[in-house]
Amino acid sequence: MLNSSRGRSQTRPTRSAPFAVMEPDHKKKSNIVGKILMVVGLTALCIIMLNKSPSLSTPTHFSRHEEGVTHVLVTGGAGYIGSHAALRLLKENYRVTIVDNLSRGNMAAVNILQKLHPQPGRLQFIYADLGDAKAVDKIFSENAFDAVMHFAAVAYVGESTMDPLRYYHNITSNTLTVLKSMAAHRVPTLIYSSTCATYGEPEKMPITEGTPQASCKHFPINPYGKAKKMAEDMILDFSKNSNMAIMILRYFNVIGSDLEGRLGEAPRPELRDQGRISGACFDAARGIVPGIKLRGTDYKTQDGTCIRDYIDVTDLVDAHVKALQHAKARNVGIYNVGTGKGRSVKEFVEACKKATGVNIKVEYLPRRPGDYAEVFSDPSKIRRELNWTARYTDLEESLEIAWRWQKVHRDGYNSP
Ligand SMILES: NC(=O)c1ccc[n+]([C@@H]2O[C@H](COP(=O)([O-])OP(=O)(O)OC[C@H]3O[C@@H](n4cnc5c(N)ncnc54)[C@H](O)[C@@H]3O)[C@@H](O)[C@H]2O)c1
Repeated sequence: MLNSSRGRSQTRPTRSAPFAVMEPDHKKKSNIVGKILMVVGLTALCIIMLNKSPSLSTPTHFSRHEEGVTHVLVTGGAGYIGSHAALRLLKENYRVTIVDNLSRGNMAAVNILQKLHPQPGRLQFIYADLGDAKAVDKIFSENAFDAVMHFAAVAYVGESTMDPLRYYHNITSNTLTVLKSMAAHRVPTLIYSSTCATYGEPEKMPITEGTPQASCKHFPINPYGKAKKMAEDMILDFSKNSNMAIMILRYFNVIGSDLEGRLGEAPRPELRDQGRISGACFDAARGIVPGIKLRGTDYKTQDGTCIRDYIDVTDLVDAHVKALQHAKARNVGIYNVGTGKGRSVKEFVEACKKATGVNIKVEYLPRRPGDYAEVFSDPSKIRRELNWTARYTDLEESLEIAWRWQKVHRDGYNSP
């Protein structure tokens, strides 16, 4: 120790030294090693920073905000409604990122969208599960979103009663994950897919946005409706202390498909039993099932069958675009999206027979527990505030358009 320090003092050059003093070899070596270590350290630091920062890693159209371009994250964009929404957004020149785990959606629908809009910066697909918070946060840190349309969900009432935890996880918990990432990455706008199922079975029709939502005590409600109601509550609590612009859209029963026949509704065959009425009618018309089973003919309605409000998917996605355009910072808008007209199940089946030209066999069965007699909307708030109104209100016409796609897609998107 002593020696080496003495050595150092002997060799240290001074300002006034008139000549250079040669450093000893071991000192030179340790300086070089130090420098190498510093360069290596700095390089490693740069690599880490480049990997972490989207703005420093290879920038893409999706990773930076661009003036005049609104980048929308469409969760569940490989599904029925999400794919139709993405198609409409792309047509309107929005930049779209679809995130989907393909658990229920169809990659073929995304491929169709890609083929229609192949230009760079229009559409990207990210395969991810919204239950994976780390993956979700990575998506938000690598992309510059201006808005989120959160469609992704499991969405079958019957299934929710059999597997409620799956519904609370997939709907409520995943919405929390998306919301947290939106807040952390300052995404300013959320359009949330909710449902009339959050109202349970109200005493008064039509349903307005002021109709009390379901509480277990007063109105029967299934786990699907409860999970969506919880997600809504979470969003509303969050909104009280946030600048985010939020629109909650409560859809009624969605039917129909793209007017130009590019997309359709193609649920997994294993979900047929859970099915929605349009799917059941089309399956019967195609002979995949022998007929349709109508449950409950003794409700207090005109013809004894349940009454529902059927909204065409083209109108529904139009409501989303209007919601996006009208969304205001620090504001929450809640809207029913329905036609305001109730149609009986019998009426629906008759319209389906006409649309398909097939005399669908109907079997009448007793009521299914949990089905409500009558559910239809009062859509005057959305008409008044967002200037939206349903245009495709002719059941037969909507079903005819959907049938055209169904006829050539017997196997859904897997059809040749
Ligand atoms: N179809 C209707 O009649 C109706 C009515 C009211 C509300 N909604 C709501 O509309 C939304 C879309 O419904 P849809 O009919 O298009 O359903 P869908 O099953 O066709 O589409 C849902 C999509 O979300 C994806 N998804 C599900 N869980 C996911 C996860 N954890 N991570 C990533 N992706 C996931 C699926 O793969 C699928 O592509 C849902 O939120 C649903 O609750 C639908």
